[in-house]
Amino acid sequence: MEVLTAPEHVAAWSAQARWSGHRVGFVPTMGALHTGHASLISQALRQCERVVVSIFVNPLQFNDLNDLARYPRSPDADRALLEELGCHALFLPDEHELYQGHRPMTFDLGGLDTYWEGPDRPGHFQGVVNAVERLFLYVRPDKAFFGEKDRQQLAIVRHVATTLQWPEQIVGCPIHREPDGLAMSSRNVRLSPSDRERAPLLYEALLSTAQSATTGSPAQAQQAGLAVLARDPEIVVDYLGIADAVTLEPLDSWRTGREAVALLAARLGEVRLIDNILLHPSV
Ligand code: PAJ
Repeated sequence: MEVLTAPEHVAAWSAQARWSGHRVGFVPTMGALHTGHASLISQALRQCERVVVSIFVNPLQFNDLNDLARYPRSPDADRALLEELGCHALFLPDEHELYQGHRPMTFDLGGLDTYWEGPDRPGHFQGVVNAVERLFLYVRPDKAFFGEKDRQQLAIVRHVATTLQWPEQIVGCPIHREPDGLAMSSRNVRLSPSDRERAPLLYEALLSTAQSATTGSPAQAQQAGLAVLARDPEIVVDYLGIADAVTLEPLDSWRTGREAVALLAARLGEVRLIDNILLHPSV
């Protein structure tokens, strides 16, 4: 695996791959890699002859400097995992080089940042899109892989890529979970042992929401999920809401022929977790 730090080196690596007739797959990450990330990389390896992963803890998307400082980092383990998976290149940009000559841009997010994670994290999604835009500029992938775990991020990247006619194809990948249902996340390592034990209740709540959605209204589905979470007073729910799966607009009633999703954010101790599930209402 080639390890590239200079943006122009990854650009040359990618250009070489494309000249050789290979499709270039790209998985942007912030490191502390786990099997959720690995599932995206495996998907990329199945669809593309050359795969590059970036590890870049993007300061622009953190609202809280403490959160940035505490973000887990495991460079040696990350590199070993990428080697084992058969990844072709690792892009490790330096913050100043990646953003050199770049003033943060304000993208039209189509209002997709109005809900859910948006209000709690002002500027977060603009920061994500700024990093993705810079990374795409150098990597120039044919396909870029994003997890449905961060469904709002995926929806926003898709929206920007479509409206700005970016050539990259955005591929969404399913959520990878621990055997007990907890969605894999780099933040899970920060859970205390007791919070780690209670964390699967989040997925249980989403399953209950999805079950209720097959017969009930969005409000009933939401209540079913909240009732599960209410079993543990240590879990602080920021939101559990029902939304259109594409626009992420909150739903009062099901829309025929449109996919819906339940979105959840909750805090366990100091750790904030997000998760979501697709719903299949009978309309
Ligand atoms: P990060 O949190 O490292 O996640 C990198 C990618 O892995 C994202 O697309 C995320 O949705 C996906 N992912 C994380 N956990 C997953 C799981 N359990 N199952 C499936 N996919 C999962 O998201 C970011 O980094 C950053 O915002 C980034 C896009 C790199 C921009 O800085």
